[in-house]
Amino acid sequence: MISFTTFLLTLLALFNLSLSAHEDVFVPPVLYPRFNTVWIVGQYHNVTWDTDDAPVHISNKIGQVYLAANYIIDMDHPLATGFNILDGRVVIHVPKVTPGSHYSIVLMGDSGNYSPQFTIRSH
Ligand SMILES: *[C@@H]1O[C@H](CO)[C@@H](O)[C@H](O)[C@H]1NC(C)=O
Ligand SMILES: *[C@@H]1O[C@H](CO)[C@@H](O)[C@H](O)[C@H]1NC(C)=O
Repeated sequence: MISFTTFLLTLLALFNLSLSAHEDVFVPPVLYPRFNTVWIVGQYHNVTWDTDDAPVHISNKIGQVYLAANYIIDMDHPLATGFNILDGRVVIHVPKVTPGSHYSIVLMGDSGNYSPQFTIRSH
């Protein structure tokens, strides 16, 4: 029979586990594109992010980059996938989208991080 103390210790241990797992979540801030960046459809650009605060153990090192319009992520068309989040940069091809200044880049690892909104022009 499981005693109340054992039960409590198990709960504590589980809580501890989730805490230490949380420490390994790495959500790097996007450095480029910035708020005043202008990209042209068809160009290639390095999306960059800060890896300085990366913990030693990361639960998910595989990154993905998406484009968001008005903060709505286009999940069907990732701009880059399968790269190492510790690289700090990945080259993307600017997709053919309606020109506007409501775009942002979303870097996903364990969790997502938005760049500031920037502009995409058609030419
Ligand atoms: C919680 O984790 C620390 C080290 O990460 C360990 O020393 C401690 O015994 C753990 N506590 C429990 C209740 O599992
Ligand atoms: C991306 O960055 C790398 C390293 O700085 C550089 O060699 C490469 O030319 C850049 N690519 C583009 C499209 O800017």
